[in-house]
Formats: sequence, structure tokens, C-alpha cells
Amino acid sequence: MTAERKMALALLVNGTGHHGASWLHPSTQADASTSIEWYRDTALLAERGLFDLFFIADTPAARTSNLEAYSRFPIFMNVFEPVTLLATLAGLTSHIGLGGTVSTSFTEPYNVARQFVSLDHLSHGRAAWNVVTSANDFAARNFGLDRLPPHAQRYERAQEYVDLVRKLWDSWEDDAFIFDRTSGLTFDPAKQHAVDHEGKFFTLHGALNIRRAPQGHPVIIQAGASDTGREFAAETAEIVFSSDASIESGLRFYRDLKGRMDKFGRDPDELKILAGKPVLIADSAQEAEDMFQTLQEMIHPMVGRMRLGMDLETDLSDLPLDEPIPEDRIPKTSNQHKAYFDHIVEMIRTDKLTLRQLYLRYERGNKTFRGTAMQVADNLEDWFAAGAADGFMMNFSIMPMGLERFVAEVVPEIQRRGLFRTAYTGRTLRENLGLKRPANRHVVPAPAPLEVAK
Ligand SMILES: Cc1cc2nc3c(=O)[nH]c(=O)nc-3n(C[C@H](O)[C@H](O)[C@H](O)COP(=O)(O)O)c2cc1C
Repeated sequence: MTAERKMALALLVNGTGHHGASWLHPSTQADASTSIEWYRDTALLAERGLFDLFFIADTPAARTSNLEAYSRFPIFMNVFEPVTLLATLAGLTSHIGLGGTVSTSFTEPYNVARQFVSLDHLSHGRAAWNVVTSANDFAARNFGLDRLPPHAQRYERAQEYVDLVRKLWDSWEDDAFIFDRTSGLTFDPAKQHAVDHEGKFFTLHGALNIRRAPQGHPVIIQAGASDTGREFAAETAEIVFSSDASIESGLRFYRDLKGRMDKFGRDPDELKILAGKPVLIADSAQEAEDMFQTLQEMIHPMVGRMRLGMDLETDLSDLPLDEPIPEDRIPKTSNQHKAYFDHIVEMIRTDKLTLRQLYLRYERGNKTFRGTAMQVADNLEDWFAAGAADGFMMNFSIMPMGLERFVAEVVPEIQRRGLFRTAYTGRTLRENLGLKRPANRHVVPAPAPLEVAK
């Protein structure tokens, strides 16, 4: 490990905070998720904290059943479309990277290639695209499908999709647009490279109608956890969000993913793994624990049942809250998130918890780190020093309170320890992350200058 190794920081932003009951907390702005002023202030605060990336997750769907429960847990029910939001934030910020999710299952490569090049220009080189295949039938039904295509097929489409987007990003050389009033040419015709693509999912013959992105290619993010998802990330991603509860499992994931890159001719440094860190900061560890428990108890039983039932892949709505889930109600196998399913089954069998105790304890694989600012700094340092992450995807239980405390108390501490930058070192997201700018595939690199014998 070199002395210069610094951690990268991203912020996962969702309105009132990461905790499902955060919108009920009196310090939050309940309608933050559609307030541009809220996003502006939050992005500027993250920029003051020298974060690399401001990130917006997305699923293109409102839930249309079980509405009372979703009204009490309003995930993606009332949010901005990410690229539109990020384009506005591009004009209100100057250094922080702007990343957003767009699904490859419900869009066309040409639209998305164009959107992210535009965002990269609007932000002067700060755009990042989170490539997801989506895992939600509510979304599928908005795009002419009854349900999502099978997992393997979604990833096969994603692979062709990203390959095509990258070809489009190279459809103009960097210096193609010359605006030469003497010759009367706006662009050099030799520097357009139209794409001719006929694949399994897409046919495309054409070029983008915008010059090449400041970053060459906007940064590609992924968060796939399955074997297929990891292969895809090893081949194409430049940032990966991981979500592991312990340093040991984080290390296993880190080594596994980076170990897969060699066969694609990639260096491990071409990919930054950012570990997801749900965090709650308070003046003492006990106070943080108490705040967390108070938030957990604000989860309505209807929501607790729904979220637990979703991951246990069964309907729990008829079961009493204060009794254990009977063994015969546990499905034999999982079809969705196997890790979540196995974790719940293990808690049912070993801890003998009641349904209420179960949903109060269950946190979908990760575990909110609760403690003082100093303890949060220790935790980040432990992960970073162990080599389990290149940086962190922070999300705070209550926003903007969590971010305010992090910027005021944790950032100076990790700077003091030499783990984090004290000023932005680059102009673009790639420069700040230490990712190289991709050369255009159609441009032959100039030969290295000949060494002249002295
Ligand atoms: C930090 C983080 C952010 C994510 N953001 C999104 C998102 O915005 N939209 C989405 O559909 N899935 C999102 N996911 C889910 C992943 O893209 C992926 O579908 C999931 O991890 C399962 O991986 P798999 O399909 O390889 O099994 C996110 C996951 C993580 C850890």
C-alpha cells in the first residue's frame, strides 16, 4: 500500500434518508425527493465534503398494489427522473461527480449514450452511468412486459447494450469538431466513425449527434452481486458498489471481483470498489443505538411484514406479530435474493424471534454502522486498511443531518489520518478517482518518441 492511497467517497441520496421511517423524523423535509432546492443544498454540502460522487438510484415504476403499506414506506413512489435531475445539478455544482441509474432492460442504447454524453458536457466531465438490469416486475409492466425477462437474458442484453453505448461514445474523435470558418467545415468528415451493429438484441447503424464526451466515456458503475453480475462488472465497470456487512465478506467480494478482471485484459486499478456504508452518527455510541432503535420502532407493522415477506418470498399478512413464524410457512427455496432469504430463514431457526422482533432486526444483508464520528472514521479506516474497499458509498439514516455531521466531523478526521483528500485534485470525475480517460478505439496512438542517444 502506498502512502498516497486515498479513499473515494460517494453519496447515495434518497430524499429524507436511508432509513425507511426517516420521512417521519421531525428533522427531515418530508417532500425532499421532489425538491430541487433540497438536492442543490445537499449536493453543495457533499461537494464541501469533497465527495467524489453524488449518486441517484432508480427504478422506473410506482408500486400499484399494497398501496397503504407503500404509502407508509414510499420507495420510488415520488422521485425525479435521475438524468433530468443530474443535468440541473450540473449547473449548480462544480466538482462533484454526478451518477445516476438507467436500466438496460427498458431503454435503447442510442438514447442513453446520448443522454450521458450530454450530461458529461453539461457538467464538464463529471457524469457516471449506473448500469442495472432491474429486478422489479412493476417496472416491467410499464414497458410492455408482464414480468421481467429471466436474469441471464437481462444480463446478456446488458452486455450487448453497454458494448453498443461505448461504440457510440467513440463515433466521433475527440477533435472532430473544428468549426473552421476558413475551410467552411464545422467537423472533419474523416473523424466520424458510424457504428454498424447487428446483434441479438439491437440493430443500429449511425453515429451520435454530439461531440465526444470530455471524459472520453462517462464513468460506468455497477452493483451486480450474482456470478453473472460480477463477470459483467469485471469486464466493463469502473465503479462497483458492494454491500457486505463484515470486513471478511467485503474482502472476499473485493478479491473475487478484482481477480476476475485479468481475463478481460484489465488492470485491477481500472475498477474502484466502493463498499456500501449505512451510517448513523451521534454524540455517543449509546445515543446512536437509541436513535436507531427509535427509528426501527417507527416502522409500521404493515411495512415490517411487507418487507420481510418480500424477501422471504411469502405473504405474512395473516400471521400474529408477537409469535414466531411457523416452520411450515417458510418456502422450500428462494427465487429472488437468495442471500436475503437464507439470512431470514437462519434468523427464524436459530434466534427463535417473533415476527415483530424479526422485522425490527432485519436490515437486508447490510448493517447500519451506528456510533460517534470517531468510531465511523475508525470503521472506514479498518475497511480501507484491510483492502476490503477502495472507498465507500455512504448513505445516512437521516438526511441531511447525517451528511452534515459526516462533513463536519468525519471528513476532517479522515483527512488528518491522511486517508482522504484535502482538496479536489482533478476537474473530472475520472481525474478525481484516478481512472484513465479511454482512448477512442478508432485513433491509433501516436508512436512513443524515439530515445535519442546522448
Ligand atoms: C448501492 C447500490 C445501488 C443500487 N442501485 C440500484 C438502482 O438504482 N436500481 C436498480 O434497479 N438496482 C440497483 N441496485 C441493485 C443492483 O443493480 C443489482 O440488481 C443487485 O445488486 C442484484 O445483483 P444481481 O442482479 O447481479 O443478482 C443497487 C445495488 C446497490 C448495492
